[in-house]
This record gives sequence, C-alpha cells and structure tokens, in this order.
Amino acid sequence: MDLLDRVLFLFKQKDWREVLELNKVECEVVTRKLLWVWPSESNLKLIKNTVNEFGLNGVISIGCGCGLFEWLLQEYSGLPVIGYEVNKEWWMSKYCNPHFIELNFPSLPPTEDILDPSYALLFCYFNNGPAFRDYVNCYNGDLIFIIGPGEGAGRHTDPEPFKPEFGGSKWTLCELQEVRDTKDFIAAYVREK
Ligand SMILES: C[S@@+](CC[C@H](N)C(=O)[O-])C[C@H]1O[C@@H](n2cnc3c(N)ncnc32)[C@H](O)[C@@H]1O
Repeated sequence: MDLLDRVLFLFKQKDWREVLELNKVECEVVTRKLLWVWPSESNLKLIKNTVNEFGLNGVISIGCGCGLFEWLLQEYSGLPVIGYEVNKEWWMSKYCNPHFIELNFPSLPPTEDILDPSYALLFCYFNNGPAFRDYVNCYNGDLIFIIGPGEGAGRHTDPEPFKPEFGGSKWTLCELQEVRDTKDFIAAYVREK
C-alpha cells in the first residue's frame, strides 16, 4: 500500500495516532503532497494547550491544503478546525488530493466576518506575505500560530515563524516548539494590548 492509500485507510478508521506514526516516512516528494509538516503528539499538545489557555473555541487554518494536519489537530484536541483555501476549481477537480477536512473558499481580500475572533489563526507553510497581512488586518482575535522553517532549514515561508511581518498590529512570541527534529518550528504569537 502506498503512503496516500495508507493515510486514507487510517483516516477512514479515524486512527489519527497511526497517521502520526507515519511521520518517519522518508520520501519528501510524497509527503509534501499531503502536508508540509508532519507533527508529533507533543506539537499538537502545544497548540491545544495554547488555544485552551486563551479560552478560545477552535482554530482557523489559512492555506490548509488538503487539511491533513488540521484533521490530526482536530482529532487529537477535540477543537474544531476550519480550513480556508484558494483556487476552488483545483480543489474540486478530480486531479487534486483527497481532503481530510471541509475546505472553505472565502472571497478575497478577506473580511472580518470570515475570521471569528474566538478562534486562533494558523498559517502552516504559508507562502504569501501580503495575503498574510490582509488576514491579520481583518482578525480581531488574540492568537496566531505560524509554522515554518527555522534558520538553516533550507526552506522558506512568508511569514517566517521567527521574523513575521504582521503589518500594522503588534504581536509577541509566547510559545515556540520544534516540529520533531525537522528544523521546522511552531511559533505562537499573542496580540500586544
Ligand atoms: C505550501 S502550501 C501549505 C499547505 C498546508 N498548510 C501544509 O502545510 O501542507 C501553501 C498553501 O497556501 C494556500 N494559499 C496561498 N494564498 C492563499 C490565500 N490568500 N488564502 C488562502 N490560502 C492561500 C495555497 O493554495 C497552498 O495550498
């Protein structure tokens, strides 16, 4: 069984723990089709605990791709995770990967009504700085997760987890954790009051 079939089989069984175990898979090309960051249980715990600490109701993931990371987070934490993507035609076509959560396609530029302030925002391997700032400008909540490569990883995201450019609003780093030993990091930022 190839990796995608294995993940789909486990997804249907709702066996998120076994999907997490597949993080040892070596083949980057295949895994990147599914997700850029294959989390550990302690990575999911960090997100869950931080969301709970801030008394928030869930997570909105911007640029969630096929939503496998989001499904894992949802199953692990019990928190609702809402996924936003662009390019509806592609994601609804027969050529794309299966989706692991429902995908939503907001009209752009984003507006306040699509970003419930009682949810944290998540940007995992997001790659569009101006769009990131558009979302942040419309968000009235207090917690943003950024997942991306640390220095020396040889990969690039915009925003980067350590030097995000938020635009007009001010945010402080409150949590940081490496994704296993990948040189990718989860950074949580809280709004400065
Ligand atoms: C490198 S992929 C990361 C996908 C997924 N988060 C992951 O970690 O596997 C970046 C994703 O951001 C999406 N994206 C780019 N601009 C966007 C925007 N303005 N709003 C929502 N999603 C966007 C792309 O379609 C793409 O799926």
